[in-house]
Amino acid sequence: ESSEKQTIFKAYSLAAKLYQHILFQTDYGDPAREYMKRRGISSETAEVFELGFAPDSWDFVTQFYEKRGFNLALMHKAGILAQRDFDRKYFDLFRNRLIFPIADSQGKIIAFGGRILNDAQPKYLNSPEHPFFNKSRILFNLHRAKNEIRRKRQVILFEGYMDVIAAWEAGVRNGVASLGTSFTEEQAKIIKRNADQVVICYDSDSPGIEAAMKAAYILQAAECQVRVVRFEDGLDPDEYIKKYGKDKFIATLNQSLTVTSFKMEYLRKRHDVSDEQERLVFIHEMLKQISSLRSAVERDHYLRLLAEEFHYSLEALKEEQRKLFYQQK
Ligand code: CTP
Ligand code: MN
Ligand code: MN
Ligand code: MN
Ligand code: MN
Repeated sequence: ESSEKQTIFKAYSLAAKLYQHILFQTDYGDPAREYMKRRGISSETAEVFELGFAPDSWDFVTQFYEKRGFNLALMHKAGILAQRDFDRKYFDLFRNRLIFPIADSQGKIIAFGGRILNDAQPKYLNSPEHPFFNKSRILFNLHRAKNEIRRKRQVILFEGYMDVIAAWEAGVRNGVASLGTSFTEEQAKIIKRNADQVVICYDSDSPGIEAAMKAAYILQAAECQVRVVRFEDGLDPDEYIKKYGKDKFIATLNQSLTVTSFKMEYLRKRHDVSDEQERLVFIHEMLKQISSLRSAVERDHYLRLLAEEFHYSLEALKEEQRKLFYQQK
């Protein structure tokens, strides 16, 4: 391993320890500990996830690196420091943020996610990509969840750090998250190496539902068995756990939908099926979905559901579905 790589790992690990120290051992950490309390993150969990606090300062870590003789240009390249345009001076990228260290699959910290404590924008800030941090290949919490994932052959996929953490506190220890960016084929391959089944547990707001649909197709293309969870009232998993408690959360996880049932619910919301024209579009979209199923038994199952609910003959639906199947070939 190159010495540059070693230096970057070292710099991340030291900054993480420093942020952790600020959060737990100093008065500067008060607002962040208050914030954690409001969000229901216990100190034990904060310790497990190595959470920290970046104080509201322009040069807190910058000075630390300077004193330790780190090359600031390298720290900038590594995505830890930012650089001012007009005088090229380096400064702290993370300020007034709760810090979520992001590790590679071995547990080495290679980036930070930071959540602002107030309602300033952007709400979340991630380290920019650098030579050892490619967002499309990292799953937050994979290194901690790996044993449980392999034991259960199952991954629970969340949108955000807070969802992974809230689920962890609820006893769900096989959760990971993609990093705000959309879910990628590379991430699907990493999951497939460790598990057979993926339960997608994204936010139940409309961006979450759209993103879940996309992730489902990417995971199916990678030959994972996919299930999808929906929460009522557009909640996200963290909010759902806070509102209804962990038992109901776990029950809801266990009532996950197949991709086809999830698609059916999704299309139902987009098309007013009481309108004749819209209903036909809905049926057409469902038949496309059904055509993509490999199992004849499954295709038959959903065709029957549609036939019964919308009073079409099973024969007509089958005929249409077969046409679509050959068009897709
Ligand atoms: N995210 C990000 N950058 C953003 C917004 C989101 O990286 N500007 C990522 C973060 O990992 C975040 C996840 O996407 O945890 C989910 O985003 P969102 O649902 O908007 O977060 P909230 O649930 O609204 O965040 P919070 O609960 O902390 O208010
Ligand atoms: Mn949001
Ligand atoms: Mn969201
Ligand atoms: Mn959310
Ligand atoms: Mn949330």
